[in-house]
Amino acid sequence: MSTPAAGPAPGTATADGTAARARGLTKAYGSGETAVLALDSVDVAIARGRFTAVMGPSGSGKSTLMHCLAGLDTVSAGEVWIGDTEITGLKERELTRLRRDRIGFMFQSFNLIPTLNAVENITLPMDIAGQKPDRKWLDQIIDTLGLRDRLKHRPAQLSGGQQQRVACARALASRPELIFADEPTGNLDSRAGLEVLGILREAVDSLGQTVVMVTHDPNAAAHSDLVLFLADGRIVDEMAEPTAEAVLERMRLFSGSGTQATAPEEE
Ligand SMILES: Nc1ncnc2c1ncn2[C@@H]1O[C@H](COP(=O)(O)OP(=O)(O)OP(=O)(O)O)[C@@H](O)[C@H]1O
Ligand SMILES: [Mg+2]
Repeated sequence: MSTPAAGPAPGTATADGTAARARGLTKAYGSGETAVLALDSVDVAIARGRFTAVMGPSGSGKSTLMHCLAGLDTVSAGEVWIGDTEITGLKERELTRLRRDRIGFMFQSFNLIPTLNAVENITLPMDIAGQKPDRKWLDQIIDTLGLRDRLKHRPAQLSGGQQQRVACARALASRPELIFADEPTGNLDSRAGLEVLGILREAVDSLGQTVVMVTHDPNAAAHSDLVLFLADGRIVDEMAEPTAEAVLERMRLFSGSGTQATAPEEE
C-alpha cells in the first residue's frame, strides 16, 4: 500500500530536505495481457545527505524505481523531482544535463563501454561533460576499490566483481550530489563489498552526498540510515536505523505475507 498523498511519504525528509521524490509514480511495461505494473503509484521522498536502502523480492520494482527516480526511464504516470526540479516535465536535453551534473548511477548490469579500458570508463561521464577529474579523489577511489593494476583492462578482461568496482568508481568520480547504486555489492566478495559500502557511507557522512542503494543483503542494508521495503511495485514498509538482524527478521515476515502492507502480528 502506498502512503496516502496527505501523509508524509516513506523515506521522510529531514531538515536538509529531499534529494529526490516521487508522487503517484507508476510504471507499466507492455500492454494488454502481458502488461506488467512494475511500480504502482509510489510516493517516496529520499532525504538529502542520508543513506537509503531499497529492499524487496526479485521483480518487486527496485531497479525500475531507481531508474525512474534518476530520470533514466520514462514514467507511465506520476511525478518525479530531483531536488526542486520536476524531471518528469523536462525535455530530453535538459534531463541529460541534469543527470550528468548531479547523478551517479551504478547499474545492476554495470553498463560499461566494452571498447574503453577501466580508467576510460571511470572518467567517461566527466569527459563527456568536459570536466577534469580531481586527480587526488580519483586516485583515492581507484586505490580503495583495488583497481590500480586493472586500469588498462577492458571490461571483457575483468572479472564480474572488478567490473562492478569500475562501475562504482565511475558513479563516484565526479562526486555527484545523488548516487544510485543498484546492488553494488552483488558480485563482490565480503571484503570488497565492505569497501564499497564504506565508500558509500563516507560519501554521505563526509561529503554530504545522498545515496540510494538496492540490496538483497541485510548486512549491506545495515550500513544505511533507512530501509524502504518494496513488494509488487509498492513501498510496503520502512525501517530507520536498521540492523542486519532486524532487517532479516522483517524479510522473513514479508516472505510469508506476500504483499501485506504491514508485518503480520504472528509469524
Ligand atoms: N523492460 C521491461 N519490459 C517488461 N517488463 C519489465 C522490464 N523491466 C522490468 N520489467 C518487469 O517489471 C518488474 C520489476 O522489475 P525490476 O527490474 O524493477 O525488479 P527488481 O526489484 O529490480 O528485481 P531484481 O531484484 O531481480 O533485480 C518485473 O516484473 C519485471 O519483469
Ligand atoms: Mg533489479
